[in-house]
Amino acid sequence: MPAAPASAEPALEADLTSILATNLVAYQALASEYRVTSRQRLKHAAEWLAVVFQRNTRSRRLQALDIGCADGSHAYLLAAHGYDVTGVDFSPRMIQIARWRLQRFRLRKDHRPRFLTGEFHAGTFHDAAGRTELLGDRQFDLVVANAFVHLFPRPYDRAVVKKALDLVAFQGTALFSTTIEDSREEGYFVKYRSDGTGVDRWRGHYPKDEFLALIRDAAGEPFDLQDATSTDMRGRSWLTIAARRARVG
Ligand SMILES: C[S@@+](CC[C@H](N)C(=O)[O-])C[C@H]1O[C@@H](n2cnc3c(N)ncnc32)[C@H](O)[C@@H]1O
Repeated sequence: MPAAPASAEPALEADLTSILATNLVAYQALASEYRVTSRQRLKHAAEWLAVVFQRNTRSRRLQALDIGCADGSHAYLLAAHGYDVTGVDFSPRMIQIARWRLQRFRLRKDHRPRFLTGEFHAGTFHDAAGRTELLGDRQFDLVVANAFVHLFPRPYDRAVVKKALDLVAFQGTALFSTTIEDSREEGYFVKYRSDGTGVDRWRGHYPKDEFLALIRDAAGEPFDLQDATSTDMRGRSWLTIAARRARVG
């Protein structure tokens, strides 16, 4: 069961701008925590990424986008599996850590992930030199939105799923994941750090069927869906939905 909301503010009346502002403050404050949990998250990622690693038999280098890439853990994992990776995150601290970690990996210059700062729903990003990039004209073989969609209130969750799917190339795959909950709730919840201190941030909770329905409705006819469950290091159950663009349309 999710923890009780830290604030009584009704989620349906929530204003996206203030939710994004609160979440940005929260993730800026949580950035160092992501460095601490990197190894455990990578262990879990090996499970939920297995579906795409097994399927990847193409000879050319595949393009991957990691939405809400945090400290870059998954971006580096994908780069190690041969993907040409772009990671985006609205937290400058997360992006700073992700870029800083480049020094620790021995990757050829053209195999290094690129990290862009920017809010995904707005869709404007900046590279390390401050140049603006829009991803709208790009197509990716793999789009990862791990623990991301649930950070948006309805109906923006659906809009964000659609935006992510629009970036998927023909025969490419998008991965969407969330924790599996008993009931649908959304609001401000405390996210705890490993030292027991907490930060308020907004998130939604979805029972399995509701998250599946959200992705299915947004994906429509062009996509084939496959779902899998896994357990993270804290014993929480996760649902990962792989949406593969199997048809033109
Ligand atoms: C729950 S964490 C998940 C991190 C990573 N995907 C993982 O699975 O470990 C969410 C990440 O998304 C970023 N984020 C949250 N809302 C965002 C938004 N609207 N646009 C871009 N990044 C966002 C946060 O800064 C944070 O790094």
